[in-house]
Amino acid sequence: MSTHSPSSASKLALLGGTPVGEVVYSKFPVFSERAIERVGDVLRAGKAVGLGRFHSPEIAEAEDTISRYHGGRRVLACSSGHAALQAALAGLEICSGDEVITTPYTWGASTSCILHQNAIPIFVDVERDTGLIDPAAVEAAITPRTKAILAVHIFGQPANLRRLREIADRRGLKLVEDGSQAHGAEIDGLRVGNVGDAAGFSCMGGKVLPTTEAGYLVTPDESVFWKGAMIGQHMGRSPEKDFPDALRPWVDSLVYTYRVTPLNAVLLTEQFGRIDGWIAERRRHADLLRSKIAAAKFLRMPDYAAGVKPVYHLLTMNFDPAAAGVSRNTFAAAMKAEGMMAFGYVPSPIPDWARLHWQDYRGPRVSWLAALERAGVDYRGMALPQCRWRVANSIETRFDFVDANEEMVSRMAEIILKVEANIGALRDHERTAGPTAPARR
Ligand SMILES: Cc1ncc(COP(=O)(O)O)c(C=O)c1O
Repeated sequence: MSTHSPSSASKLALLGGTPVGEVVYSKFPVFSERAIERVGDVLRAGKAVGLGRFHSPEIAEAEDTISRYHGGRRVLACSSGHAALQAALAGLEICSGDEVITTPYTWGASTSCILHQNAIPIFVDVERDTGLIDPAAVEAAITPRTKAILAVHIFGQPANLRRLREIADRRGLKLVEDGSQAHGAEIDGLRVGNVGDAAGFSCMGGKVLPTTEAGYLVTPDESVFWKGAMIGQHMGRSPEKDFPDALRPWVDSLVYTYRVTPLNAVLLTEQFGRIDGWIAERRRHADLLRSKIAAAKFLRMPDYAAGVKPVYHLLTMNFDPAAAGVSRNTFAAAMKAEGMMAFGYVPSPIPDWARLHWQDYRGPRVSWLAALERAGVDYRGMALPQCRWRVANSIETRFDFVDANEEMVSRMAEIILKVEANIGALRDHERTAGPTAPARR
């Protein structure tokens, strides 16, 4: 690894110069000794089976801890973010043929949770600067079949929850939040997860709040909690103590096994004890990067209104190809050659994906295609101009330092400013070498 720091005007590493140096990350996820000890205790006690909060004090403790973080809302700890999101939709009884208006600019699980309920995703465009779902586009897409809006707080940025809540209430729809990338983000004093009728969060090992593989559902509605539990938890012979009588006739073991394990439950509890510190440290680093690249002309972080408090584990930036005179891919390749992760996180708008195209799909059989065919949706070639702009022009980087790491943040800034200072050489390079393939993580 080179730690040599050339001046910003020196030759780009992509063109044979000396790299600025690799951005070295502190280890993440990290687990405290206490968390590791508690996992050992669970194993030593042979607590292999979870089966919900009344059978497992570890699960009850995790759910109560997370509930406090979410203003006392009910929390169902799950095996993954996908499980939590599907349980959220099931809890709201969103299923066969129901339309769910959602974003095309996200990780696929925000969509597959809809598909696995045999519901129909209706994709609408996003806001260019952030990639967050555009409330005006949501409103325009509402039909008599619409049951819910599913908003994703992508890259730790909170979606416009006030507008979305207002639209949902006025039009009689449910609001579902996917907070998988945004634990602890806030907008106008509202914490992500505390506004929707239900929200799902991922706690897989790369997220803001990491365990191994886990997630959780948050809801203000007791019945959503229980209906969510019913699709994910084997309760056939012993429904939980507080299980509502009205739902008892429908309890059985026709379920997905979506409940959290006691092992991850103790990790959830222990990790939540540290989340505020992690969030604060990353915000401080993000502010530092913002100030250090304030002079950059081609690459900038999104502007956030006062009252928007994002969180970070991935950081998104907007590249201006017209002003730079080179493509995002070439610029990102130059950043990467200097030592920094730089990639486009969303490879293409989700409606472009072949496994949604019942009209001409040729791959292994997929369960949701029949529902999409019945609904007659054609996702091929949707316009979605802002989403497409972002797919082509945003640059994401990993941003999960939890220890003070100004040196690495400064190195990121140095890399960005060096590539900018060499934009003329990069233009010449692109002209002769041709297009660069998109950088992936
Ligand atoms: C936005 C978003 N939604 C949902 C998920 C699914 O979470 P999981 O991998 O825990 O199922 C992820 C993460 O992978 C995600 O980034």
